[in-house]
Amino acid sequence: MSQELNDLAKKLLANGKIASPEALEIIRNRNLFDEVLKLEETIIKKSTLESLEKEKFKNEQKIEKESEKELKQETKLEEKPEEPKKEEVEIRRDRKKKVAEEHDVDFNIYNSEVKHVERKTSDFINYFNSRYELIQGMLMKRVNPISISNVKKTRNDEVSIIGMVYDIKTTASNNKIIELEDPTGKLSAMITQNSEGSLFEESENILKDEVLGVRGVFKNNYLFIRELIRPEIPITKEIKKLDVPLSCVFISDLHVGSVDFLEDTFKKFLKWLHSKEAENVKYILIAGDLVDGIGIYASQEEDLSIKSGKKQYEHTAELLKQIPEHIKIIVQPGNHDIVGNHEPQNTLKDTALSQLPNIVFGTNPCWVTLDKIKILMYHGYSYDNLIRELPSIRQKGYREPTLPMIEALKRRHLAPTYGSSLAIPEQKDYLVVEDIPDILHSGHLHTVGMDNYKNVLTINSGTFQGRTKFQEMLGHVPHPGIFVKVDMDTRKSRMVNLNNY
Ligand SMILES: [Fe+2]
Ligand SMILES: [Fe+2]
Repeated sequence: MSQELNDLAKKLLANGKIASPEALEIIRNRNLFDEVLKLEETIIKKSTLESLEKEKFKNEQKIEKESEKELKQETKLEEKPEEPKKEEVEIRRDRKKKVAEEHDVDFNIYNSEVKHVERKTSDFINYFNSRYELIQGMLMKRVNPISISNVKKTRNDEVSIIGMVYDIKTTASNNKIIELEDPTGKLSAMITQNSEGSLFEESENILKDEVLGVRGVFKNNYLFIRELIRPEIPITKEIKKLDVPLSCVFISDLHVGSVDFLEDTFKKFLKWLHSKEAENVKYILIAGDLVDGIGIYASQEEDLSIKSGKKQYEHTAELLKQIPEHIKIIVQPGNHDIVGNHEPQNTLKDTALSQLPNIVFGTNPCWVTLDKIKILMYHGYSYDNLIRELPSIRQKGYREPTLPMIEALKRRHLAPTYGSSLAIPEQKDYLVVEDIPDILHSGHLHTVGMDNYKNVLTINSGTFQGRTKFQEMLGHVPHPGIFVKVDMDTRKSRMVNLNNY
């Protein structure tokens, strides 16, 4: 991208807009910058601009007629200024309740069970069996499998199995061997580099420990794979809406206590919550990393402005107290929070945040429901691993933080590879995406993004921490001070950029 386009992209980002490379060129070539700023959309694509150009053309044609009309109206007003009707004056005098105070919905939170007791070998077996069974149940609708122990006995030309990936190897002749296992045994499956279509390319994106369906032909002790079937999100999923005009605000990664915590920007957020624009805000969801923590990485102390964990939460509580009480604040921990970083993580109920009357504590992960709308909150620690391991998102994963979220949804698991999230083997695998969320909300990557994946709104809610030395070293550019607001009655979503306030 040229420097000019780079500068344009930065200018747009500073105004809360993210444009695709194609769209950037059109904006520059056709001088559409001012028009783009007026758009409600945050993500600007080529298609958005085509309709914008048509609109611009129509507007230009109308200019003459409208000027005439305005002139007539002005003359009329000068002749006889209209007084406000009596009823309107009375309404204005009454202090109206905010929209969010007038409406309620059925709110629930469903937390993961967190025991964290000493583990035995049998716990690992139960944990993996639970993962296998839950995802097998999802795949059964699309795969008609036989058990691995029966593959060698079958006389069918083609067989389907459901297996958990035990290992992946590349042979000397550059074919992929995928070791699959189910409760009845193990099997070696192969994808050759001259497989049809994009199958070989897809084989690069198979993750250790993910559960998938495969269809293929068994020959010479190998199952030659013809198709990979992921549990996925069904295409038929509808967009659910609330009957009342309430909205949710999604934030994460405050990192209070870090020298890079942008307290002034966060105070702008608190101020914004008292504005007219925020009148329908009923819920604020915070997807972890409320504080920077203590001892999370080597020499962290040098990067802390508050060097006690307890005080970091006390200061966070002081700030969150300024949120109007009619707004519920739902908080879950992230890997910087001081509850241990094994997932599922426990809630933050033992911190100073419990003083707040409007706080609701969630585990990581947890589910929030607003009437029929289901929101899955997961901080996103495993996304680093997904970006590292998946060639399909390795280049763009940090800039487009919904990409790893979508990969997790396709696999119906928030941290497919064991160890990528410091998961602890409970009796049940709580990181399986058992139900289909309407919204998946995460943080951790410190960049902001929104996407619709098969009618699941994926939101990565950015940060309130400036660029850290570590991010500078890795070349990552965070998006501080931009958050997401979703009107739940219309499902209109947009990014609010506090850097413009
Ligand atoms: Fe973070
Ligand atoms: Fe994090």
